[in-house]
Amino acid sequence: MRVLKQARQMSLTAQALRRQARSVGFVPTMGALHDGHLSLIRAARRQTQVVVASIFVNPLQFGPGEDYERYPRDLRRDLNLAKAAGCDLMFAPHVSQIYPSGACTIVEVEGLGEQLEGASRPGHFRGVATVVATLFNLVQPTIAYVGQKDFQQAIIIQRLVKDLALPVQVRVLPTVREADGLAMSSRNAYLNTEERRQASALYQALSAAKEHLRRGERGAQRLVESMREVLDRCPLLRVDYLAVVNAKTLEPLTEARGSVALLGAVHVGTTRLIDNVLVDVS
Ligand code: PAJ
Repeated sequence: MRVLKQARQMSLTAQALRRQARSVGFVPTMGALHDGHLSLIRAARRQTQVVVASIFVNPLQFGPGEDYERYPRDLRRDLNLAKAAGCDLMFAPHVSQIYPSGACTIVEVEGLGEQLEGASRPGHFRGVATVVATLFNLVQPTIAYVGQKDFQQAIIIQRLVKDLALPVQVRVLPTVREADGLAMSSRNAYLNTEERRQASALYQALSAAKEHLRRGERGAQRLVESMREVLDRCPLLRVDYLAVVNAKTLEPLTEARGSVALLGAVHVGTTRLIDNVLVDVS
């Protein structure tokens, strides 16, 4: 596996791959790799000829007081895991490679980026959209792989690609979970034993609401109440938001119909966790 640290090297390599007409699968990450990230690399390995991943803890998507400084970083471990999963080329740039002095252009996906995660983390998605657009331009992937775990982010990346006519296909892959249902996340490393035990209640709450939907409940309010009931049993969890939205537009629903996304964010101690499940309601 080659490791590139310079944006220029990455760009020249991408141009060479293009000239050779090789299909390139790309997995952007912030590192602290786990099985969720690796499932994306493995899918790229199966579906494309050259697999590129990136590790870049993007300062632009962290708000003041968030965990940018303490975000877990272990490049050597990550390189070994990525290589074993079938990655050919790792792009691991320094901040100055992505935001050289004078950089002042941002990408903003209006509307979609302001609700849910965007409401709790103002400016987060403009950071994500800006770095993803830059990475797509440097890597020039044929297919980009992202996780359903960050559902709103996936929708925003798809929107961005469409609106800016970027020549890349975006594939959204299912959330990889721990045995008790907790969605894998680099931030799970922050949890102590008791927090970790209670953290799986977020997925249990979403699953309970999904079950209510299956049994015929359509009222969004009552679905949210069913989630809250599960979470109320866990004193270490504090709800940020629970939402029932249209899975294509992210618009809040009062009646759950069509493609529905159930989304939640909770604080567990100083850690913030998100998760979601999708349901097709005919
Ligand atoms: P990061 O949180 O490292 O996630 C990188 C990719 O892995 C994202 O597409 C995310 O949705 C996916 N992922 C994370 N946990 C997953 C899980 N349990 N199952 C499946 N996929 C999972 O998301 C980011 O980084 C950044 O915002 C980024 C897109 C790299 C831009 O900086």
